[in-house]
Amino acid sequence: MSAALRIGVFDSGFGGLTVLRELLPQVPQAEFFYVGDTARLPYGSKSRATIARYAVESAQFLVAQGIEYLVIACNTASALAIEEIRAAVRVPVLGVIETGAASAAAISRSRDVLVLATDATVQSHAYAQACAQHGLRALEKACPLLVPLIEEGWTEHPVTAEVLRIYLHEALEQAQAAQMQPDTVLLGCTHYPLLRPLLERTLPVSMRILDSAATTAESVHRDLQARSMLPAQVITRLHAAAEAPSASRCHFYATDSIEKFQRLGSRFLGQAMHSVTLMDIGG
Ligand code: DGL
Repeated sequence: MSAALRIGVFDSGFGGLTVLRELLPQVPQAEFFYVGDTARLPYGSKSRATIARYAVESAQFLVAQGIEYLVIACNTASALAIEEIRAAVRVPVLGVIETGAASAAAISRSRDVLVLATDATVQSHAYAQACAQHGLRALEKACPLLVPLIEEGWTEHPVTAEVLRIYLHEALEQAQAAQMQPDTVLLGCTHYPLLRPLLERTLPVSMRILDSAATTAESVHRDLQARSMLPAQVITRLHAAAEAPSASRCHFYATDSIEKFQRLGSRFLGQAMHSVTLMDIGG
Protein backbone atom coordinates (compact mmCIF):
# COMPACT_ATOMS: atom_id res chain seq x y z
CA MET A 1 0.00 0.00 0.00
CA SER A 2 1.42 3.43 -0.89
CA ALA A 3 2.00 6.01 1.84
CA ALA A 4 0.11 8.76 -0.01
CA LEU A 5 -2.92 10.33 1.63
CA ARG A 6 -5.96 8.46 0.35
CA ILE A 7 -8.92 10.65 -0.53
CA GLY A 8 -12.33 9.31 -1.51
CA VAL A 9 -14.65 11.25 -3.81
CA PHE A 10 -18.11 10.22 -4.90
CA ASP A 11 -21.06 11.27 -6.98
CA SER A 12 -24.05 9.60 -8.58
CA GLY A 13 -22.17 9.65 -11.86
CA PHE A 14 -19.71 11.82 -13.76
CA GLY A 15 -20.50 15.16 -12.12
CA GLY A 16 -18.07 14.72 -9.24
CA LEU A 17 -15.24 14.43 -11.73
CA THR A 18 -15.49 18.23 -12.12
CA VAL A 19 -14.53 18.40 -8.43
CA LEU A 20 -11.81 15.77 -8.78
CA ARG A 21 -10.33 17.74 -11.69
CA GLU A 22 -9.83 20.68 -9.32
CA LEU A 23 -8.59 18.46 -6.49
CA LEU A 24 -5.75 16.96 -8.52
CA PRO A 25 -3.63 20.15 -8.57
CA GLN A 26 -4.76 21.17 -5.05
CA VAL A 27 -3.50 17.99 -3.38
CA PRO A 28 -0.76 16.82 -5.73
CA GLN A 29 0.50 13.80 -3.80
CA ALA A 30 -2.79 12.31 -2.71
CA GLU A 31 -4.13 9.14 -4.17
CA PHE A 32 -7.79 9.45 -5.17
CA PHE A 33 -10.54 6.85 -5.12
CA TYR A 34 -13.61 7.90 -7.09
CA VAL A 35 -17.03 6.24 -7.16
CA GLY A 36 -19.57 7.10 -9.86
CA ASP A 37 -22.82 5.33 -8.99
CA THR A 38 -23.89 5.40 -12.62
CA ALA A 39 -26.26 2.42 -12.37
CA ARG A 40 -28.49 4.26 -9.89
CA LEU A 41 -28.41 7.85 -11.09
CA PRO A 42 -30.04 10.30 -11.15
CA TYR A 43 -30.12 10.77 -7.38
CA GLY A 44 -31.83 14.12 -7.81
CA SER A 45 -35.28 12.65 -8.48
CA LYS A 46 -35.20 10.16 -5.58
CA SER A 47 -36.37 10.30 -1.97
CA ARG A 48 -34.18 11.35 0.94
CA ALA A 49 -34.13 7.77 2.31
CA THR A 50 -33.02 6.29 -1.02
CA ILE A 51 -30.36 8.95 -1.60
CA ALA A 52 -29.03 8.42 1.93
CA ARG A 53 -28.88 4.63 1.45
CA TYR A 54 -27.03 4.93 -1.88
CA ALA A 55 -24.65 7.58 -0.57
CA VAL A 56 -23.82 5.62 2.59
CA GLU A 57 -23.09 2.52 0.51
CA SER A 58 -20.66 4.45 -1.70
CA ALA A 59 -19.02 6.05 1.34
CA GLN A 60 -18.58 2.68 3.04
CA PHE A 61 -17.16 1.15 -0.13
CA LEU A 62 -14.57 3.95 -0.26
CA VAL A 63 -13.69 3.50 3.41
CA ALA A 64 -13.09 -0.19 2.64
CA GLN A 65 -10.52 0.99 0.05
CA GLY A 66 -8.61 2.63 2.89
CA ILE A 67 -9.52 6.29 2.35
CA GLU A 68 -8.68 8.74 5.14
CA TYR A 69 -10.83 11.65 3.98
CA LEU A 70 -14.11 11.80 2.04
CA VAL A 71 -15.40 14.46 -0.35
CA ILE A 72 -19.10 14.27 -1.25
CA ALA A 73 -18.80 15.66 -4.76
CA CYS A 74 -22.56 15.61 -5.18
CA ASN A 75 -24.86 18.42 -4.12
CA THR A 76 -27.85 16.09 -3.82
CA ALA A 77 -26.08 13.72 -1.42
CA SER A 78 -24.54 16.67 0.45
CA ALA A 79 -27.96 18.32 0.82
CA LEU A 80 -29.89 15.24 1.90
CA ALA A 81 -27.51 12.72 3.40
CA ILE A 82 -24.46 14.40 4.95
CA GLU A 83 -25.54 13.52 8.50
CA GLU A 84 -26.17 9.88 7.61
CA ILE A 85 -22.81 9.67 5.82
CA ARG A 86 -20.96 11.25 8.77
CA ALA A 87 -22.66 8.80 11.12
CA ALA A 88 -21.69 5.83 8.94
CA VAL A 89 -17.95 6.47 8.47
CA ARG A 90 -15.08 7.39 10.75
CA VAL A 91 -13.16 9.63 8.37
CA PRO A 92 -13.68 13.41 8.00
CA VAL A 93 -16.42 14.24 5.46
CA LEU A 94 -16.71 17.43 3.41
CA GLY A 95 -19.77 18.34 1.30
CA VAL A 96 -20.23 20.94 -1.42
CA ILE A 97 -23.18 23.05 -0.24
CA GLU A 98 -21.48 25.24 2.35
CA THR A 99 -18.51 26.09 0.13
CA GLY A 100 -20.88 27.00 -2.72
CA ALA A 101 -22.88 29.35 -0.50
CA ALA A 102 -19.72 30.92 0.94
CA SER A 103 -18.25 31.61 -2.48
CA ALA A 104 -21.54 33.10 -3.70
CA ALA A 105 -21.50 35.39 -0.65
CA ALA A 106 -18.01 36.53 -1.61
CA ILE A 107 -19.04 37.74 -5.06
CA SER A 108 -22.73 38.70 -5.04
CA ARG A 109 -23.40 42.42 -4.83
CA SER A 110 -27.19 42.30 -5.05
CA ARG A 111 -27.17 39.61 -2.30
CA ASP A 112 -29.64 37.62 -4.42
CA VAL A 113 -28.44 34.35 -5.93
CA LEU A 114 -30.04 31.97 -8.40
CA VAL A 115 -29.27 28.34 -7.53
CA LEU A 116 -29.73 25.73 -10.26
CA ALA A 117 -29.92 22.24 -8.81
CA THR A 118 -31.65 18.87 -8.86
CA ASP A 119 -35.19 18.48 -7.64
CA ALA A 120 -34.12 16.78 -4.39
CA THR A 121 -31.55 19.50 -3.60
CA VAL A 122 -34.15 22.21 -4.21
CA GLN A 123 -36.79 20.44 -2.08
CA SER A 124 -34.30 20.19 0.78
CA HIS A 125 -33.72 23.99 0.73
CA ALA A 126 -30.17 23.28 1.84
CA TYR A 127 -28.89 26.12 -0.36
CA ALA A 128 -31.49 28.63 0.86
CA GLN A 129 -30.46 27.85 4.44
CA ALA A 130 -26.71 27.97 3.73
CA CYS A 131 -27.10 31.20 1.73
CA ALA A 132 -29.22 32.81 4.48
CA GLN A 133 -26.38 32.24 6.92
CA HIS A 134 -24.23 34.40 4.66
CA GLY A 135 -26.89 37.11 4.34
CA LEU A 136 -27.97 36.02 0.84
CA ARG A 137 -31.40 35.28 -0.57
CA ALA A 138 -31.47 32.21 -2.80
CA LEU A 139 -33.97 31.48 -5.54
CA GLU A 140 -33.71 27.72 -5.96
CA LYS A 141 -34.65 26.35 -9.37
CA ALA A 142 -34.98 22.62 -10.00
CA CYS A 143 -33.67 21.54 -13.41
CA PRO A 144 -34.46 17.79 -13.41
CA LEU A 145 -33.86 17.19 -17.12
CA LEU A 146 -30.29 18.47 -17.17
CA VAL A 147 -28.47 15.55 -15.49
CA PRO A 148 -29.84 12.89 -17.90
CA LEU A 149 -28.97 15.13 -20.88
CA ILE A 150 -25.44 15.68 -19.57
CA GLU A 151 -24.97 11.99 -18.79
CA GLU A 152 -25.96 11.37 -22.41
CA GLY A 153 -23.12 13.64 -23.50
CA TRP A 154 -25.55 16.20 -24.97
CA THR A 155 -23.75 19.21 -23.54
CA GLU A 156 -23.99 21.23 -26.77
CA HIS A 157 -27.11 19.64 -28.18
CA PRO A 158 -29.97 21.92 -29.38
CA VAL A 159 -32.41 20.01 -27.14
CA THR A 160 -30.27 20.78 -24.08
CA ALA A 161 -29.96 24.43 -25.17
CA GLU A 162 -33.74 24.72 -25.41
CA VAL A 163 -34.36 22.98 -22.07
CA LEU A 164 -31.85 25.27 -20.40
CA ARG A 165 -33.40 28.35 -22.03
CA ILE A 166 -36.83 27.36 -20.65
CA TYR A 167 -35.51 26.72 -17.13
CA LEU A 168 -33.66 30.04 -17.04
CA HIS A 169 -36.64 31.94 -18.44
CA GLU A 170 -38.88 30.44 -15.73
CA ALA A 171 -36.31 31.16 -13.03
CA LEU A 172 -35.88 34.78 -14.04
CA GLU A 173 -39.67 35.24 -14.13
CA GLN A 174 -39.91 33.76 -10.62
CA ALA A 175 -37.14 36.11 -9.50
CA GLN A 176 -39.04 39.09 -10.87
CA ALA A 177 -42.26 37.99 -9.17
CA ALA A 178 -40.36 37.65 -5.88
CA GLN A 179 -38.72 41.06 -6.42
CA MET A 180 -35.28 39.48 -6.44
CA GLN A 181 -32.38 40.60 -8.59
CA PRO A 182 -29.94 37.69 -8.76
CA ASP A 183 -26.53 38.70 -10.09
CA THR A 184 -24.92 35.28 -9.53
CA VAL A 185 -25.89 31.84 -10.77
CA LEU A 186 -24.68 29.12 -8.47
CA LEU A 187 -24.35 25.73 -10.16
CA GLY A 188 -25.80 23.58 -7.40
CA CYS A 189 -25.10 20.31 -9.14
CA THR A 190 -21.64 19.01 -9.97
CA HIS A 191 -22.83 17.96 -13.43
CA TYR A 192 -23.66 21.51 -14.49
CA PRO A 193 -20.13 22.90 -15.08
CA LEU A 194 -20.26 20.92 -18.33
CA LEU A 195 -23.04 23.28 -19.45
CA ARG A 196 -21.01 26.40 -18.77
CA PRO A 197 -20.54 27.34 -22.44
CA LEU A 198 -24.30 26.99 -23.05
CA LEU A 199 -25.09 28.91 -19.87
CA GLU A 200 -22.77 31.74 -20.83
CA ARG A 201 -24.57 32.06 -24.15
CA THR A 202 -28.03 31.94 -22.55
CA LEU A 203 -27.73 34.10 -19.42
CA PRO A 204 -27.78 37.91 -19.35
CA VAL A 205 -24.12 39.07 -19.55
CA SER A 206 -24.43 40.82 -16.21
CA MET A 207 -24.87 37.49 -14.36
CA ARG A 208 -21.83 35.64 -13.02
CA ILE A 209 -21.65 31.88 -13.02
CA LEU A 210 -20.19 30.14 -10.02
CA ASP A 211 -19.42 26.47 -9.87
CA SER A 212 -18.44 25.04 -6.54
CA ALA A 213 -15.84 22.57 -7.89
CA ALA A 214 -12.85 24.91 -7.51
CA THR A 215 -13.99 26.32 -4.16
CA THR A 216 -14.65 22.81 -2.84
CA ALA A 217 -11.12 21.75 -3.79
CA GLU A 218 -9.72 24.81 -1.98
CA SER A 219 -11.81 23.97 1.09
CA VAL A 220 -10.52 20.40 1.05
CA HIS A 221 -6.94 21.66 0.97
CA ARG A 222 -7.56 24.09 3.84
CA ASP A 223 -9.34 21.44 5.89
CA LEU A 224 -6.55 18.89 5.34
CA GLN A 225 -4.02 21.47 6.44
CA ALA A 226 -6.04 22.36 9.52
CA ARG A 227 -6.25 18.68 10.43
CA SER A 228 -2.48 18.27 9.85
CA MET A 229 -3.22 15.60 7.28
CA LEU A 230 -0.91 17.09 4.64
CA PRO A 231 2.76 16.20 5.05
CA ALA A 232 5.00 19.30 4.84
CA GLN A 233 6.52 18.30 1.52
CA VAL A 234 3.03 18.08 -0.01
CA ILE A 235 2.33 21.69 0.90
CA THR A 236 5.67 22.77 -0.57
CA ARG A 237 5.07 20.91 -3.78
CA LEU A 238 1.58 22.29 -4.05
CA HIS A 239 2.86 25.83 -3.97
CA ALA A 240 5.69 25.05 -6.32
CA ALA A 241 3.14 23.42 -8.67
CA ALA A 242 5.89 20.95 -9.42
CA GLU A 243 3.65 18.15 -10.62
CA ALA A 244 1.24 18.17 -13.51
CA PRO A 245 -2.19 17.03 -12.30
CA SER A 246 -2.50 13.45 -13.43
CA ALA A 247 -5.30 10.92 -13.35
CA SER A 248 -2.69 8.19 -12.92
CA ARG A 249 -3.06 8.87 -9.17
CA CYS A 250 -6.75 7.93 -9.38
CA HIS A 251 -8.69 4.72 -9.06
CA PHE A 252 -12.12 4.89 -10.60
CA TYR A 253 -15.10 2.70 -9.79
CA ALA A 254 -18.40 2.79 -11.65
CA THR A 255 -21.57 0.77 -11.07
CA ASP A 256 -22.48 0.66 -14.78
CA SER A 257 -20.74 0.51 -18.18
CA ILE A 258 -16.97 0.99 -17.88
CA GLU A 259 -16.71 1.92 -21.54
CA LYS A 260 -19.25 4.76 -21.13
CA PHE A 261 -17.61 5.90 -17.90
CA GLN A 262 -14.22 6.18 -19.62
CA ARG A 263 -15.63 7.86 -22.71
CA LEU A 264 -17.81 10.49 -21.02
CA GLY A 265 -15.80 10.76 -17.84
CA SER A 266 -12.74 11.99 -19.68
CA ARG A 267 -14.77 15.06 -20.74
CA PHE A 268 -15.59 15.88 -17.13
CA LEU A 269 -12.07 15.17 -15.92
CA GLY A 270 -10.31 16.83 -18.84
CA GLN A 271 -8.02 13.86 -19.42
CA ALA A 272 -8.14 10.17 -20.26
CA MET A 273 -9.23 7.74 -17.57
CA HIS A 274 -7.52 4.38 -17.59
CA SER A 275 -8.10 2.31 -14.49
CA VAL A 276 -11.88 2.03 -14.18
CA THR A 277 -13.28 -0.95 -12.27
CA LEU A 278 -16.86 -2.17 -12.38
CA MET A 279 -18.27 -2.40 -8.88
CA ASP A 280 -21.45 -3.83 -7.41
CA ILE A 281 -22.64 -2.20 -4.20
CA GLY A 282 -26.16 -3.57 -4.18
CA GLY A 283 -29.43 -2.57 -5.79
N1 DGL B 1 -24.15 15.54 -9.52
C1 DGL B 1 -25.16 15.45 -8.53
C2 DGL B 1 -25.35 16.74 -7.80
O1 DGL B 1 -24.39 17.48 -7.66
C3 DGL B 1 -26.46 14.78 -8.79
C4 DGL B 1 -26.92 14.34 -10.07
C5 DGL B 1 -28.06 13.36 -9.94
O2 DGL B 1 -27.75 12.19 -9.80
O3 DGL B 1 -29.23 13.77 -9.98
O4 DGL B 1 -26.41 17.04 -7.32
